[in-house]
Amino acid sequence: MNAAEIDALKSQLHQKSPRIILKQALALFDNIAISFSGAEDVVLIDMALNIRKDITVFCLDTGRLHPETYRFLEKVRKHYQIDIEILTPNRDLLDEFVKRKGLFSFYEDGHHECCAIRKVEPLSRKLAGVDAWITGQRKDQSADTRQHIPEVQLDTAFATDGHPLVKFNPLLNWSSAQVWDYIEAYQVPFNELHEKGYISIGCEPCTKSVLPNQHERAGRWWWEAETKKECGLHAGNLRSGNH
Ligand code: ADX
Ligand code: SF4
Repeated sequence: MNAAEIDALKSQLHQKSPRIILKQALALFDNIAISFSGAEDVVLIDMALNIRKDITVFCLDTGRLHPETYRFLEKVRKHYQIDIEILTPNRDLLDEFVKRKGLFSFYEDGHHECCAIRKVEPLSRKLAGVDAWITGQRKDQSADTRQHIPEVQLDTAFATDGHPLVKFNPLLNWSSAQVWDYIEAYQVPFNELHEKGYISIGCEPCTKSVLPNQHERAGRWWWEAETKKECGLHAGNLRSGNH
């Protein structure tokens, strides 16, 4: 898919509902994968299975997820009877990093180095083998970094030479309340951390529960500035463009 075709698709999907965006994504691409964090983005799996049975789902296992999240991944696998590819970091890179900087260096000099090894490198390996991917990003997740994301975009951060990569964000225009309405209405399984005050869920050392009325992003990398709270999975969000 070239830039002009993406622009046409972008106009077509502008402000559309998750189901319409997902349907179009799954119709256009066979070799497409859903990136599942083990949180409320489970609704993508639920919706996608109602459209097509042969979906590919993967999760980046950083080695630092909560026990509740690991249990939830297993629950989702069994509930929907699907395979979930659990992707692990490159062992040599990780061993060297932990030996050099220990297990909690992100509190001292930021999360990017650890995220690069535990999330971004495994993600780039996975994305090198697909034509398109689907994420659970929403505008309401961040007033600082997620306001200008389109429903569909060319992912220049992860495209490999001569191989365009398309990224779909079907939940973009839904609020957290709409996602939770869906989870309740369709009895979708959810991560037990949500019952313990967690809204946005990432790795255990970098996620905390939030107080009533605190924004969900306040519980992620709380020692860093709001504008830096992207880990490289969605690196384009930190640039001016997002095209
Ligand atoms: S993050 O970049 O800040 O960690 P966030 O938790 O908001 O991302 O999740 C947004 C979307 O990114 C998720 O819906 C999912 O598509 C993708 N994502 C985030 N973390 C993971 C993960 N560990 N494995 C797979 N996908 C992930
Ligand atoms: Fe490392 Fe924290 Fe990033 Fe997880 S979120 S990969 S523990 S810095």
